[in-house]
Amino acid sequence: MEKAVISDNKPIKTTLEKDKTYAYCTCGRSAKQPFCDGSHKGTTFTPLRFTAQADKEVWLCTCKQTKNPPYCDGSHQHIADDAVGITA
Ligand code: FES
Repeated sequence: MEKAVISDNKPIKTTLEKDKTYAYCTCGRSAKQPFCDGSHKGTTFTPLRFTAQADKEVWLCTCKQTKNPPYCDGSHQHIADDAVGITA
């Protein structure tokens, strides 16, 4: 099974807009973290599309290890700085 790239080892604070649909990067290759920029093409990954239920400030995962995507669940705390940029 193909593995995601650890794009960073800390989440990104983002303000979501109610009823807006987002495409969260799951492959870790996007240069527009935490969102998809199409870099998954040629991989087995697809973006996670979700619609915000309210205007809300959230922390979105960049390490791609969260069990609750697109949201950070603290899993990044076990990822060292030198692991950023490589596959998990
Ligand atoms: S950034 Fe991935 S779990 Fe926090």
